[in-house]
Amino acid sequence: MNKKPGYVFVWPISTRLIHWMMAFSFITAFITSFYEHLLHDHVALGFIFLVIIIYRIIWGIIGPRYATFNTFKLKPSELKEYFVEKIRNRWRKIPAGHNPASSWYTVWAIIVGTVIVVSGLLLYGVQEAKGVFRFLNDDYTDYIYLLEDVHKYASYLFFAWVVIHITGVLVEQFWHRTGMVFAMVSGYKKTEGEDTEVKSLLSFFAYMMIFMAIATYFFIISSNYNFLTLQKYTDIDYEQVHPVFYEKCGECHKIYPPYLLPEKSWKRVMKGLGNHFGEEITEANITKAQQASILAFLEENAAESSKREAAVKVMDSLEKWYPKAVTKTPYWRETHQDIPRSVFKQKEIKDKSNCIACHKDIDRGNLDDMNIIFHN
Ligand code: HEC
Ligand code: HEC
Repeated sequence: MNKKPGYVFVWPISTRLIHWMMAFSFITAFITSFYEHLLHDHVALGFIFLVIIIYRIIWGIIGPRYATFNTFKLKPSELKEYFVEKIRNRWRKIPAGHNPASSWYTVWAIIVGTVIVVSGLLLYGVQEAKGVFRFLNDDYTDYIYLLEDVHKYASYLFFAWVVIHITGVLVEQFWHRTGMVFAMVSGYKKTEGEDTEVKSLLSFFAYMMIFMAIATYFFIISSNYNFLTLQKYTDIDYEQVHPVFYEKCGECHKIYPPYLLPEKSWKRVMKGLGNHFGEEITEANITKAQQASILAFLEENAAESSKREAAVKVMDSLEKWYPKAVTKTPYWRETHQDIPRSVFKQKEIKDKSNCIACHKDIDRGNLDDMNIIFHN
């Protein structure tokens, strides 16, 4: 006997939580992806999504009635029939479990979702040199753009999928009047079939996974330095590493980390000290020997020899052209193009070359997205 006459209990609370946590983590991760300084939150939300996908896959194997993959209707002929029936018969009966469209939808969501989290984790490792795959930054920076595209377009695809899904549910709700919107809230569907039951061991597993997803989120949010978020690079104490460079080149502005420009640019900067952005720097300020030592240091640590995201991208954006300023590189212009000019004129900033006003610790070589001080 079903608990509620005329209705079938299809989605137990554990399945409903999977559904809503997946929806919530995807949407919030999608939104935060548009803000560089929210990368940390984006990654934490992505981890909820990751744990939930793993959970959904296991749930599809060992889960309760209506949730398992073997009840999915995946034959193309069934899908066609489903839509033909949908158009022909407004008052058709709906199945208790997944219909052919929602079966396909779930399988696709799991596949595309997996592509999103795997490419995201790899990108976090290769590009940001962070997380469990940070070691991949050593050799695989050539793949940054490919990974970025896969991650991005898979997410767009998933987003489009979400829109189609919501449309489908609304059509069910308002055209077919099957009360679909409430099914994922109350767990009940207006149809025929047997109520589902979840064994207590299975429930325990479900709550463990949900707990894991939330715990992972807070574990990431709480620290930039645990094994899921740690960066391969640590802060550089330039004062220690090259005191002359630190002192002489940090006199009028904070030092610019050498990895932000290629060797040829640094050569130009050091040859042109006589007219350095309107300032005249002479041997009275920095002796010939000091200049030579600074140039050697800058060249040794120039963009060519670094795998940091900014170094790689500055190099990729320059083609046989070696500007004397980071702010002249196409990469810098591109990453800062959305910042209104008025922001750079604020009195705490004054000038676009005043990186440290917005990038805490850049004078220690740290350009972590988390360190961006957001002005607007
Ligand atoms: C006498 C003051 C002074 C000293 C010393 C000095 N600079 Fe500068 N530098 C400036 C000014 C002024 C600018 C223009 C941007 C600004 O207003 O901060 C600038 C800009 C730069 C930029 C371009 C920043 C951008 O917009 O991307 C680089 C690179 C740079 N300096 C490197 C150096 C190096 C390397 C040394 C040490 C050899 C050095 N500077 C020493 C005054 C100085
Ligand atoms: C007005 C504040 C501001 C100033 C000044 C500024 N930046 Fe930025 N920078 C930002 C913001 C905000 C972002 C993130 C843009 C986004 O969301 O895509 C950013 C992004 C970057 C990135 C890309 C980070 C990434 O991981 O994608 C680099 C590299 C960078 N800035 C370097 C510099 C350097 C070098 C200077 C100084 C020559 C500088 N910035 C000056 C605000 C600033």
